[in-house]
Amino acid sequence: MKSYHLDTPGRGIAGLTVRDHARPEPGRGQVLVRLRASALGYRDLMVLAGDYPLPIRPGVVPGCEGAGEVVAVGEDVVRVAPGDRVAATVFPRWLDGPFRREDAAQLGTTIDGMLTEYTVLGEDALVPVAEHLSYEEAAALPLAAVTAWNALTTGGVPLPGDTVLTLGSGGVSLFVLQFAKLAGARVIVTTSSAAKAERLRALGADEVIDYRRNPAWSEEVRSLTGGRGADRVVDPAGPLEQSLKSVAVRGEVAFVGYRLSGAAGARPVDPGTLFTAGAVLRPVATGSRAHFLELNRAVAAHRLRPVIDRVFPFDQVPEALAYCEAGGGFGKVIIGHG
Ligand SMILES: NC(=O)c1ccc[n+]([C@@H]2O[C@H](COP(=O)([O-])OP(=O)(O)OC[C@H]3O[C@@H](n4cnc5c(N)ncnc54)[C@H](OP(=O)(O)O)[C@@H]3O)[C@@H](O)[C@H]2O)c1
Repeated sequence: MKSYHLDTPGRGIAGLTVRDHARPEPGRGQVLVRLRASALGYRDLMVLAGDYPLPIRPGVVPGCEGAGEVVAVGEDVVRVAPGDRVAATVFPRWLDGPFRREDAAQLGTTIDGMLTEYTVLGEDALVPVAEHLSYEEAAALPLAAVTAWNALTTGGVPLPGDTVLTLGSGGVSLFVLQFAKLAGARVIVTTSSAAKAERLRALGADEVIDYRRNPAWSEEVRSLTGGRGADRVVDPAGPLEQSLKSVAVRGEVAFVGYRLSGAAGARPVDPGTLFTAGAVLRPVATGSRAHFLELNRAVAAHRLRPVIDRVFPFDQVPEALAYCEAGGGFGKVIIGHG
């Protein structure tokens, strides 16, 4: 079997190598999975760049989103059987409840991830794949959809008629849009082009704001909500000043990503803005196995399908990463493992 390895974090895509291995054997409580598809995104580029909040083990198999077929199970495995279609959880030890430091072992940084043909995981690190989804679609869920679900539900599920604002048309944001519509919310999305605005409307966005044309776009959110602001804001980009100016009093900003941080994009947040927002600012770290099981029920009940941008074959992972780096896509970038 073949696996990609990140021998030198910090060198970007050039730090990847491919190695041959013997197929692993599952031990007690473990499951051998043949990966059929995986997914890539901005998070993987951060890992390759060596710029990630968690430690990166040199030589690790990168990639944290994958789905496949159970090939063999070790002693005492009760949750799955050979032939089952499963997806892996990004934090295999985070089963339920709030995130704790001891749950921080993560696929593709501290433990071997999904850019491989076969992997061995504990049975608790796997969830079933909804029947109507292909492996490619199932691989789109473990990071982006679980994060969107946590961002949208842990601080209280939006009620029908609540306004949800989500930023950009990236992987996480598209799932926020889809899940918020299932909850009956009115959804506002920000994006940077008319073509993407059209696609967002086709997915159910009620209002779309061009954040490039109007950098003070929180004013538009206020005007679209009669001055009240959005009940829930999901921020996967990091323009926190604008997010805080967009949220309703007693609402919540779920803070998912900070790509606008650092020398190129940092904007200090005025403590006055933070205070007068009168809302909760909640950082979100993906989600637990319980979050994944909850969203699986919603995905199955509504036969919801993720938005897939492009599928690359397993031997073109570097090309797929370069495609992610170039930006401009719409939906998840998938690797088909055959
Ligand atoms: N906390 C977690 O557990 C977690 C999990 C997954 C991802 N993340 C983070 O969340 C972020 C998004 O991840 P992703 O996979 O969804 O990335 P992605 O698919 O690469 O999405 C990036 C999108 O961000 C939008 N964007 C860029 N600058 C923006 C700005 N100034 N205002 C609003 N939107 C802006 C763009 O939307 P348009 O093209 O529409 O302009 C772009 O498509 C990344 O920083 C990632 O590291 C965090």
